[in-house]
Amino acid sequence: MTDKEQKYEALVAQAKALSEAETDEIALMANVAAIIHETFHFWWTGFYRVVGEELVLGPFQGPLACTRIKFGRGVCGTAWKEKRSVIVPDVEEFPGHIACSSASKSEIVVPMFRNGEVFAVLDIDSEKLATFDDTDKKYLEKITMLYLSPKSTFLR
Ligand code: SME
Repeated sequence: MTDKEQKYEALVAQAKALSEAETDEIALMANVAAIIHETFHFWWTGFYRVVGEELVLGPFQGPLACTRIKFGRGVCGTAWKEKRSVIVPDVEEFPGHIACSSASKSEIVVPMFRNGEVFAVLDIDSEKLATFDDTDKKYLEKITMLYLSPKSTFLR
């Protein structure tokens, strides 16, 4: 197991424990953003929640960020629209990328589902190029699906 996989395994266990101790989804998002950020020291780690026709900034760790993102816009809006995780190795190559910070160089966005619809996204930015790969995708999907999606409590 790689160092990254070991760190993610520990995060999965922490997320499980957090979800067993607290059911409020915003409190959980806040602590999950904190543990991911503390583990990997990414540039920005946080959540946007679907509110009507927009994504609205939720709990995060890192510098100030854009507060509202429209459906289909940027990496976050694309993950929402296409209902799939999006990995961007170089944000300058992604058409429509929303630059909240010029320091951000690569990004991953993982949509979160409730009743088959996206209710939030997990967004992580790195100040280095090509930070995220299928290992990040696999574990971040696992954490969000098992421990942050309210209707999947039966999986806990
Ligand atoms: N870059 C994102 C916007 C959110 S910030 O990175 C925190 C996007 O293109 O959707």
